[in-house]
Amino acid sequence: MKERFGVRGGRRRKSLMDHRTCEKAANSGRMQQGARIGESTSDAVLSMTSGRKTEHIRICLDEEVNAVGLTSGFNHYTFRHNALPEIDFDGISLSTSFLERKLRTPLLISSMTGGSLAAGRINERLAEAAERRGWAMGVGSVRAAVEHAELAATFAVRRKAPTIPIIANLGAVQLNYGFGPDDCRKAVEIAEADMLVLHLNGLQEVFQPEGNTAFGGLLQRIEQLCRTLTVPVGVKEVGWGIDDETAVRLHEAGVSFIDVAGAGGTSWSQVEKFRSSDPVRRQAAEAFAGWGIPTTECIQTVRAALPGCALIGSGGLHTGVDAAKALALGADLAGFGRALLGPAVQSEQRLDEVLGRVEFELRTAMFGIGAADISSLKATQRLVRRGD
Ligand SMILES: Cc1cc2nc3c(=O)[nH]c(=O)nc-3n(C[C@H](O)[C@H](O)[C@H](O)COP(=O)(O)O)c2cc1C
Repeated sequence: MKERFGVRGGRRRKSLMDHRTCEKAANSGRMQQGARIGESTSDAVLSMTSGRKTEHIRICLDEEVNAVGLTSGFNHYTFRHNALPEIDFDGISLSTSFLERKLRTPLLISSMTGGSLAAGRINERLAEAAERRGWAMGVGSVRAAVEHAELAATFAVRRKAPTIPIIANLGAVQLNYGFGPDDCRKAVEIAEADMLVLHLNGLQEVFQPEGNTAFGGLLQRIEQLCRTLTVPVGVKEVGWGIDDETAVRLHEAGVSFIDVAGAGGTSWSQVEKFRSSDPVRRQAAEAFAGWGIPTTECIQTVRAALPGCALIGSGGLHTGVDAAKALALGADLAGFGRALLGPAVQSEQRLDEVLGRVEFELRTAMFGIGAADISSLKATQRLVRRGD
């Protein structure tokens, strides 16, 4: 796999995910079922979609795309240590449930990819690891496969992950561009998902040359969709965060869960900056490098406003201690995005190491505050906000 993706460790991996290498690499691998770009279609839109997905992956791996001038907020919190935890480390349980689905960990691989051959291979690897370790998994936007059946295999992760919760993904704004309940059902079917999450990515759409920016009247369409679909429908951001006011409006519209995807981690204005050839847009994107609501603030305020709503805390998480803080602040699951992309591209072993390390850190944080299970962690009084 390492060779197939041309990955070397460290930053600035030369030629990593360059489009041709990437597609060639995936063609030589196991991603052959039904999705051969260039063989099955010459559709320009299809290659544009696949190219964009591949470019996003390459940029996220090779360029400096973190938010600038703000953090996710986890550094502002610390756990008050418990020297006498009165629990056995080996007895600590990470098991939990999310929307009535049981999980071995309260951890999620955030929606990232699919839609190109290389992306499909990454999805396979993420799904295999998630299944082995009992994480939930989101796939990237399934729109490409709804529009181009040839790409369905790149999102079909269920065969690799038969037991975990899988979350299908679509841009909410697509509901204003002709996508209806049937398309959303199709997205769920393609990923054989348990639930659907719609992403709100207004600023990313603005910075994308091909962006869809008509966000007017979207809440009503989301409400209609929630009434129509039989699977739970959630809403997520992509790294700028969802505040309490927006969360309440979404909840009242019938949304079953919210993933705050807060600021401080991957910045999509930064990502799009690297895709743009327009100097004005590039400079404007820079001005948004510090935009958004820090993840911790989102989790805390949304949980305070909606005590019973299923909530995912994500955006800029790197360690199991971050995850413990997200859960102690009120999240039901803690999501990791870009932090897992490099390891997934690198090797199965590397990805397993990172997921295992996150779990170990989470367990150790729980031991350090004497929380034997996830409900005790969520109820802890030991999370302290540091003075700034
Ligand atoms: C390569 C890549 C592709 C992504 N594609 C999607 C997507 O298709 N749909 C979506 O909702 N979010 C997408 N995201 C956003 C993540 O789900 C997440 O919300 C965001 O990256 C912030 O989390 P992080 O700081 O842990 O990366 C993508 C992220 C990455 C790194």
